[in-house]
Amino acid sequence: VKITVEKQKPEITVAPNMYGIFFEDINFAADGGLYAEMIKNRSFDFPNSPFMGWLTYGKVSVQTEGAPFPRNQHYARLLNDGLLTGTGLLNEGFRGIGVEKNKKYNLSLYAKNVNKGENKLKIEIISAANEIIASGEIEINSGDWEKYKLELQAEETCAHAKLRVDLISQGELDIEHVSLFPAETWKNRENGMRKDLAQALADLKPGVFRFPGGCIIEGNNLETRYQWKNSVGAVENRPVNENRWNYVFQHRFTPDYFQSYGLGFFEYFQLCEDFGADALPVVSCGMACQFITDECVPVDDLEPYIQDALDLVEFANGPVTSKWGKVRVEMGHPESFGLKYIGIGNEQWGEVFPKHLEAFQKAFDEKYPEIQIIGSSGPSADGEQFDYLWGQMKKLDVDLVDEHYYKDPDWFLQNADRYDDYSRKGPKVFAGEYACHVQPEKKNSFYAALCEASFLTGIERNSDVVRLATYAPLFAHVDAWQWKPDMIWFDNLRSVKSANYYVQQLYSKYKGTTVQNVKMNGENVVGQNGIYASVVTDKDNDQLIIKISNTGKSEKEVELDFKLKELPGVLKGKQITLKANLDDENTLDEPFLVKPLEKEVVLDSKSPKISIEAESFHVFVLD
Ligand code: AHR
Repeated sequence: VKITVEKQKPEITVAPNMYGIFFEDINFAADGGLYAEMIKNRSFDFPNSPFMGWLTYGKVSVQTEGAPFPRNQHYARLLNDGLLTGTGLLNEGFRGIGVEKNKKYNLSLYAKNVNKGENKLKIEIISAANEIIASGEIEINSGDWEKYKLELQAEETCAHAKLRVDLISQGELDIEHVSLFPAETWKNRENGMRKDLAQALADLKPGVFRFPGGCIIEGNNLETRYQWKNSVGAVENRPVNENRWNYVFQHRFTPDYFQSYGLGFFEYFQLCEDFGADALPVVSCGMACQFITDECVPVDDLEPYIQDALDLVEFANGPVTSKWGKVRVEMGHPESFGLKYIGIGNEQWGEVFPKHLEAFQKAFDEKYPEIQIIGSSGPSADGEQFDYLWGQMKKLDVDLVDEHYYKDPDWFLQNADRYDDYSRKGPKVFAGEYACHVQPEKKNSFYAALCEASFLTGIERNSDVVRLATYAPLFAHVDAWQWKPDMIWFDNLRSVKSANYYVQQLYSKYKGTTVQNVKMNGENVVGQNGIYASVVTDKDNDQLIIKISNTGKSEKEVELDFKLKELPGVLKGKQITLKANLDDENTLDEPFLVKPLEKEVVLDSKSPKISIEAESFHVFVLD
């Protein structure tokens, strides 16, 4: 196999933010996942079931009168009148509460005595074996709502613990917003993120961060669409909302899936800043999730939806003198978040969507012409709807079109040349959701990752058309998922990076700056003999980077012919390899079955030969 590498004309630069992450609260990704809160239904506001996630004993009732947080109306009243049963409640966490031996946890709650006097609460973490593994007491000495805090230290490690709140004095009191966080969070922030999960995202070196969905921005109906304004300000007063994935999907049902919005738009923007990624928020375009309902706002009534989108720019970038800029400043971020993209709608289809988009676009053109608008090509990256929507997106001349593909291995391999013939004029592509689905189990197998790696050579070669790319979904809790495959799996204590994670990471870390033209026997390298390849140079680090995969069953000798000027006689650097059995999948118990292995490599730049093992992916980073 002979591969020729020559200068690409005209020059194609790789977008510096090309590879990113797409975050959606699916599979317990936010509540129960990245958001480090350990108490489910902490504010007793899960709709229709204020004690969902709680087990009560003794005299415990739900109240609303005089609630301290008007947008979360329910709280719990505990009455201990001396009966033997005692009075209290137990929280089950998100499929349990994960605590580690000797680690500290910050409990907080709001409480007030119903009658004058004093009351005492005992707070305990109870292990799965029913042992008390952390304990402390709080004295409630006020008849007004006050915040109380307690530090707990776990004596044992347990992934499925519970939290008990026990009224040990005779008396009556009210409690609200019972919260438990690990003392250590990502960057040690209050209301922070789970350290291992946030670090896994940071390690991807994401250039762009799309949030908060996905279908959840659309909602099961318009009422439950994601409304970003509900997700900012004091966490206690962010109203609980139903999660779109609180729904039967692929025979899995998660009836206890609601959004606390504790991870809200401020926190999302802050994470973008931490990661050095551009924020790409997506807002409802006035159409609920079309997989569930055809509920849709008439185009003439879109004004409040459009205003929400405009106000989001003000929240992210506006000065303290503006209404929403002030909210951001008061939350502790005086500087602008530098928002430059907005997605209008997620995965909408049909004739109505372009009309809605047009109305948003008009408003943005008038008020924020500098913000780039992301349109959509629907749920599938081919077919009639796809062609229709692309036609509409071109007419509207949006900046980027979001394409989604959850497809099988053959599709990924055959589509490595997908973008070779895309028009270089008009909207660019945001490959906003993709993953290779290997039936029947849809595992995060090495084979899925190998197909994605091969496909991504085509994205990289066409970096002038595809400007952003993000795998989906990002996270899944092993005991509470609705969708797979997913990039990072976790339980309440551990997490594991999939083979697919490593592919994304390698592309992101070694994206280079400039695409080079690659030909195999004079043709584009799109899978001839199972070989897929792309080559970039990195101006900043003076490197030549070759990505090459072999999906074939036998090893291939590849002869490289560099027709590039200014290459040293000897190319030295490293070769990073991903190679495993096709069915191998990293799991919490076997987290490193598939992982990148690095070795030093020296190549003669005149006529280098490399041998590429069967079913493997490699990145050569050469100085
Ligand atoms: O990533 C899971 C879902 O797939 C997203 O919510 C949606 O955009 C797509 O259908």
